[in-house]
Amino acid sequence: MPATVIVGAQWGDEGKGKIVDLLAQDSDVVCRYQGGPNAGHTIIVDGETFKLRQVPSGIISGKTCVIGAGCVVDPEVLLSELDELEKRGLDPSVVVVSGNAHLIMPWHVAIDQASERRLGKLQIGTTRRGIGPAYADKAARIGIRVQDVLDPKILRQKIEVALAEKNVWLERVYEAEPFELEDVASRYEGYARRLRPYVGDTSLFVDRALREGRDVLFEGAQAVLLDLDHGTYPFVTSSSTTAANAAAGIGIGPNRIDYVIGVAKAYVTRVGAGPFPTEIQGAAQERVRELGAEYGTVTGRERRCGWLDLVALRYAVRVNGITSLALTKLDVLSAFPELPVCVRYRLRDGSETEDFPAHQSDFHSAEPVYETLPGWTEPLDDRLPEGARGYVEFVERALDVEVSLVGTGAERERVVALR
Ligand code: IMP
Repeated sequence: MPATVIVGAQWGDEGKGKIVDLLAQDSDVVCRYQGGPNAGHTIIVDGETFKLRQVPSGIISGKTCVIGAGCVVDPEVLLSELDELEKRGLDPSVVVVSGNAHLIMPWHVAIDQASERRLGKLQIGTTRRGIGPAYADKAARIGIRVQDVLDPKILRQKIEVALAEKNVWLERVYEAEPFELEDVASRYEGYARRLRPYVGDTSLFVDRALREGRDVLFEGAQAVLLDLDHGTYPFVTSSSTTAANAAAGIGIGPNRIDYVIGVAKAYVTRVGAGPFPTEIQGAAQERVRELGAEYGTVTGRERRCGWLDLVALRYAVRVNGITSLALTKLDVLSAFPELPVCVRYRLRDGSETEDFPAHQSDFHSAEPVYETLPGWTEPLDDRLPEGARGYVEFVERALDVEVSLVGTGAERERVVALR
């Protein structure tokens, strides 16, 4: 598989890390192309748990790990993650960071927190890691980039210019503490020294790798319904999470991508606020949360849990050009004798649709129409029991896309390859 994108097909936390980790073993390079330390990828290998936020999951298999231009990088998080991984015997020198990626600065984190506080009940429910404010500064062309760490004078000057404005915002608009120039500058000079060896031309690097016939994985963070343009705005993240952005976020042409694997849970979860038609009402939600350990990797927050939503998944297939699906955490559903699956939405005017509503108010008021599938009691091992196979085939038929992998447990080896 020369160039394969792995993309979240729901609201994030689908288990992309595990699928990337699995496929990374047969790949040469693993790239992140968007997002920052808001992503939380959990990988369990030989009973050891790795929680990654900023570094691509390929590091676990010692593969070259690229952090592309479309990413935002918190140097404190990145460096401490690399230190931690090194302590656990992994090699941090496999990481290359694009000089064009933007830095998350401490004021981004402070503004993210303050703005969520100010929004109160209307808050987005962000991870409060400074993602939105960092991308906003990038779009406003006042961001500080990774390549700015290469020149201490430029870095200091940019911090000074930015702080002059950000401190006014923090104090006057958000009534938050301002930052001291000397504190920030000296801290970031320290990070800069450590970051320099990791900075590289990642577009050129990935292009060469592909020309040499190497296998490159593009690891999406978050997911289609959190995409800035195509997600459930404003309850979205601030980057383009869809598969097409794998090319743009790294700096290669879209025609270089060969396959797009969508990762979806066998049910659905959502963190943060926003509409969620198939959210389970009653005790079954808590049961799914407990069985699926549905608590945020980054924030520890409870995830909202719902039944599988084929309307939203059909949209994910369309928007990403998904060529096959990995259906994860099917084992969690073993506890339920009957499994509702949402096949259509009923809209306000009483009409029913299989297609994701283009307008927000239609989506907000959409009612799920369920078909109930039988569960199974047998354990999920190398061969799926009939009920589980029926569930998977139902998804394939509804979406006209093959399910190539099924996740049956947290461990790396708990995956059934159907094709
Ligand atoms: P932000 O990305 O921190 O700005 O958060 C914006 C929205 O995206 C919030 O609803 C978050 O809960 C959600 N979000 C961001 N990253 C993830 C993730 O890795 N998994 C699930 N939700 C996420």
